[in-house]
Amino acid sequence: MTKPYVFITRKLPEETIVDLLDVADVSMWPYEEEPVPREKLMEEAKKANGLLTMLSDKIDNELINQASHLKVVANLAVGFDNIDVEEATKKGIAICNTPDVLSDTTADLTFALLMATARRVVEAAQYIKDGQWKNWGPMLLAGTDIHHKTIGIVGMGRIGEAVAKRATGFEMEILYHNRTRKHEAESKLGANYCSFEELLKNSDFIVCLAPLTAETRGMFNEQAFKQMKETAIFINASRGDVVDEQALFYALKNGVIKAAGLDVFQNEPIGAEHPLLKLPNLVAIPHIGSASVETRKVMAELASRNIRNVLLDRQPEAIVNH
Ligand code: DGY
Repeated sequence: MTKPYVFITRKLPEETIVDLLDVADVSMWPYEEEPVPREKLMEEAKKANGLLTMLSDKIDNELINQASHLKVVANLAVGFDNIDVEEATKKGIAICNTPDVLSDTTADLTFALLMATARRVVEAAQYIKDGQWKNWGPMLLAGTDIHHKTIGIVGMGRIGEAVAKRATGFEMEILYHNRTRKHEAESKLGANYCSFEELLKNSDFIVCLAPLTAETRGMFNEQAFKQMKETAIFINASRGDVVDEQALFYALKNGVIKAAGLDVFQNEPIGAEHPLLKLPNLVAIPHIGSASVETRKVMAELASRNIRNVLLDRQPEAIVNH
């Protein structure tokens, strides 16, 4: 009997996919950083029973409708806005993701980005490497305090809660805005629910961890930045499209807010010539929220098991359509 066929769209460590090799014939795009071209992905999707995909692969209506053998798509991410889940569900294709296993790692990075932005760590590191450090000065590269300030978390999912937990160590006041109230986070972490507007008005750090949906797309627009304090620092570690980047550029350039730290962008990879990257009060990193060696391996293993389970007609550990 022929085994099902699985295509993996980026090179993953061999040991993370061993479970899959038992049950499927697997082929893998051989490059780690170069995405699989669209035509190749389409060609593979037409014959595959399973796809292990990255957040940069568009699994859209066109692809789904040509993938007549496809039973499962396992995304190597908790977010799945690159996949047309509605269309996949209509076709009976299971869409899986990698929640939980990356929450702490992504929260660590989010907090690191917040700290780097507030305390101007990237600028300071560049300053010393550029040979600019001639003397100590009382206000040299002075940043903004983090401890005892107010953090406003937009999107209180698993990662949001893990960021809130870290904020308690800095004795921060925690505000959050979410589709639903999170009673456990309120009682365990002392987080206070408020409206989006209240959060913007009262937070020193506004941290976006909301998934990209029709409701969140572009929610950080000109009006949102105007409602923030002039001293506010904006951090985004969810998806670039929750932000209107032109409005953010204006806000940073004109002192509407103090600074921003971005792990994600409307177009990834963002080009070095992008005006946002010219701003001294912007810290930019290349979508590395969950990028620790340990976590990326665990994510790859989970994605492999998700595919394996669907191919064996078992319930996958993490499925987003039901
Ligand atoms: C995710 O899992 O959605 C993250 O953005 C990947 O770093």
